Order: sequence, then structure tokens, then C-alpha cells
Amino acid sequence: MRNRVAVLHGVNLGALDRRPAEVYGGLSFTNLEQRIGRFAHELGLEVHFFQSDFEGEYVQELHKAPDYADGLLLNPGAWTHYAWALRDALEVSGLPAVEVHLSAVEEREAFRRVSVLDGVCIARVSGKGPDGYRDALIHLREAFTA
Ligand code: DQA
Repeated sequence: MRNRVAVLHGVNLGALDRRPAEVYGGLSFTNLEQRIGRFAHELGLEVHFFQSDFEGEYVQELHKAPDYADGLLLNPGAWTHYAWALRDALEVSGLPAVEVHLSAVEEREAFRRVSVLDGVCIARVSGKGPDGYRDALIHLREAFTA
């Protein structure tokens, strides 16, 4: 049974508690991962966490992910909006993926309305804070059992 999820956090997510609280909720990265871990446990999923501020490392992790995961939960941070190599790397992985953002990217600056992952993810969740990760995990679980 498929139940392993790689949660790949991109650039600046590791410094979450130093970013604008009115946008990101003021929670720490550790706290975010703890919450995702609890959601996963409740849903019967196993999570593996990764965070990097280096695009090449993130790409390499996407290449490696099929060795240890059945699906991906991706929040690439600002790379979402311009780092096209991530789209190609996701295709290399061949895994079902959900794009997730803490903030409502569609309602912020124009540059955040572009996503390099558009059309290559099974779903996108944004603007729901940490709870959005729960929704994203549910999407993946549905894909695993389809
Ligand atoms: C983000 C939204 C991005 O536009 C931003 O660059 C981030 C975080 C989010 O989770 O809301 O770093 O991905």
C-alpha cells in the first residue's frame, strides 16, 4: 500500500518565524513540521521532511524521492514563481504531487500568481496556513487509493 509522502520545503521556509506574521501566521518551521507530522499520523501516512535554500539540492531531492516516497507535498517558496527546473525535476520524479502554500498566493503580488508547477500537480492548496497541509495530504491519500 502506498502511504509514504516526501514533504519538500523550499527557499526561506526554514526561517518561517522571522517572516511577516500577518502573512505566514508567525509559527516556527519546527512547529509547522510537527503539525504536518500529526496530520500525517491521523491520516495513516508516513512523512519524510526535507528543506533547502539551494535550488540544485531541491532538484536533486526530487530526483531521489522515488527511492523513498510514493507522493510529494511541495512548497518551493519563491522558486514556485520562476524556477522552471523544478517543473522538469518533478516530471523526472514521476510521482503524484500536491502544491501547497501557507499564504493566499493568488491574492498577493502579481509575480506570485505564476506557478511553475501549474498543470503538473494533482492539486494546489493555498491560503489555509498549516491546515492546508492537511488538505494536501488528503489529496495525496486519495491519489494513493485511486
Ligand atoms: C509561499 C508563498 C511564496 O510566494 C513565498 O515566496 C514563500 C512562501 C507560501 O507558503 O505561502 O516563500 O510558498
